[in-house]
Amino acid sequence: MADGSGRFALRAEGVRHAYGKSDVLKDFSLEVGEGEFVALMGPSGSGKSTFLHLAAGLLKPSAGRIRVGGVEVTALGDGAAARFRRRHVGVVFQSFNLIETLTVAENILLPARLDRAAIDRRRLDMLIDALALRGLEGKLPGALSGGERQRTAIGRALYMRPHAILADEPTGSLDAKSARAICGLLAEMNKTECIAVLLVTHDPVVAAAASRVCFIKDGAIAASRPTGGDTAEISRLYLEICS
Ligand SMILES: Nc1ncnc2c1ncn2[C@@H]1O[C@H](COP(=O)(O)OP(=O)(O)O)[C@@H](O)[C@H]1O
Ligand SMILES: [Mg+2]
Repeated sequence: MADGSGRFALRAEGVRHAYGKSDVLKDFSLEVGEGEFVALMGPSGSGKSTFLHLAAGLLKPSAGRIRVGGVEVTALGDGAAARFRRRHVGVVFQSFNLIETLTVAENILLPARLDRAAIDRRRLDMLIDALALRGLEGKLPGALSGGERQRTAIGRALYMRPHAILADEPTGSLDAKSARAICGLLAEMNKTECIAVLLVTHDPVVAAAASRVCFIKDGAIAASRPTGGDTAEISRLYLEICS
């Protein structure tokens, strides 16, 4: 398992992916260090979601490889990829993807239950407090606001202490205030838990929560810069590089 690339939470090398005849990713390489918070920006249709699906082992690339925490996800079969994802990768989608018949606490614990792992009540408690979900533990997702649903999804992604969180436009269906709260929480959890975060967005305000931003263009990373939390500079670079 350890192969010298363990200092990277995620390392993609020369990834290619095509749907039919159209290449979406051409020679895509990206590294996210352990505990690093990276934003991946690009316009709609540039292949951001495709890359996250590849990194989570939900899709197989036509060439190249992706390692997460030193494990070559792209070489795993479907069953092994599903197990790996459950234990070592936290995935957060725009649409939350919560189980509507399970409570907030049950949703957070779902990966552990599926893995038949012992339940760590202290960790659940810590996450509920950190994600401002206290008092909502027993509620069903249908009774929550969008921001609360997304905080639950982040709790589920964090519970297993993954190598990396892969977040695909997690603020895309939230109002500006809830979106800012989610970005702040991701930044805080990244720091306190030292879990790497790869956050896909086309919103410079969201990207500013990360310490580094990478821009995707024509199926590859065209540039990578420290954000300095500077939304205006991220907007400028985005326009310069991606349009
Ligand atoms: N399952 C699919 N089948 C065919 N084409 C797809 C599929 N998923 C995405 N695409 C196409 O691939 C391109 C990249 O999509 P996507 O990765 O979703 O981009 P982004 O997340 O950056 O908006 C788009 O042109 C999209 O239409
Ligand atoms: Mg997308």
